[in-house]
Amino acid sequence: MTVQSDRKGQTGREGWDSAALADPHRRDDKAARVEAMFDAIAPTYERVNSVVSLGRDAAWRRVAIRALAVKADDVALDICCGTGDMIRALATATPRPRLIIGVDFSEQMLRAGHYAADVASMTALVRADAQRLPLADASVDVITCAFGVRNFQDLPRGLDEMRRVLRPGGRVAILEFAPPDNVIARWGFAFYSGVLLPRIAAWISRDRVGAYRYLPRSIQTFEKRGMMAERLRAAGFTRVSSKSLNLGSVAVYRGEAD
Ligand SMILES: C[S@@+](CC[C@H](N)C(=O)[O-])C[C@H]1O[C@@H](n2cnc3c(N)ncnc32)[C@H](O)[C@@H]1O
Repeated sequence: MTVQSDRKGQTGREGWDSAALADPHRRDDKAARVEAMFDAIAPTYERVNSVVSLGRDAAWRRVAIRALAVKADDVALDICCGTGDMIRALATATPRPRLIIGVDFSEQMLRAGHYAADVASMTALVRADAQRLPLADASVDVITCAFGVRNFQDLPRGLDEMRRVLRPGGRVAILEFAPPDNVIARWGFAFYSGVLLPRIAAWISRDRVGAYRYLPRSIQTFEKRGMMAERLRAAGFTRVSSKSLNLGSVAVYRGEAD
């Protein structure tokens, strides 16, 4: 499988230091830093993910896919596909879409992906920015985006792009971390994601770019559940709903295009 690209390399090699983490979502160079960060951690990304999520991340992806009610002749778009976890989950679902397009701007994440031959034959990988999808209006039936939207430079624009490329009747499912509403669960999540996870993940990945300090900080400072649902409505999605997973620390948002 080849990777098509409409993108030049970015600069942003500085990594996430304390100053940049003060308000990561408001930085003009957020996208460049995010791209450089994922390029740096790509080789160990999947290993870290399954260790720090205690293997639960696969189940969260299955919940998102079930919410989409995929049909056998659907074209699926996985935005922020990374190393392809969601693509593999879509390709092994029943029924499965006829074509899966995976989009990501990190060249190294795309290169680190591995696909069985039958999955590769139904998948097209495109290196592009989710904020400027190289796809026609109303050209896909279902969209997935797992742990991607928090990284967007401009969240409303990224959601508008999703709505633009979705056909009438299309469905979107977005997975994202969110601090739990319950006080005790929120404390536990803050301790785990802010103290334990960065140490475990940095040890496995030999992180030099602050990726696992960015992770908890970008979750704490990102849109809360109600606001994400509002953003989806503002982008033109209808029948918007959200469901909490993992004691409320993961949300799956669903919307439709009329
Ligand atoms: C946390 S990873 C998630 C990867 C995969 N979806 C998963 O569930 O394992 C986030 C991915 O989003 C990509 N990404 C972030 N912002 C992006 C953007 N604006 N355009 C394209 N890809 C983006 C990163 O390169 C990275 O591969």
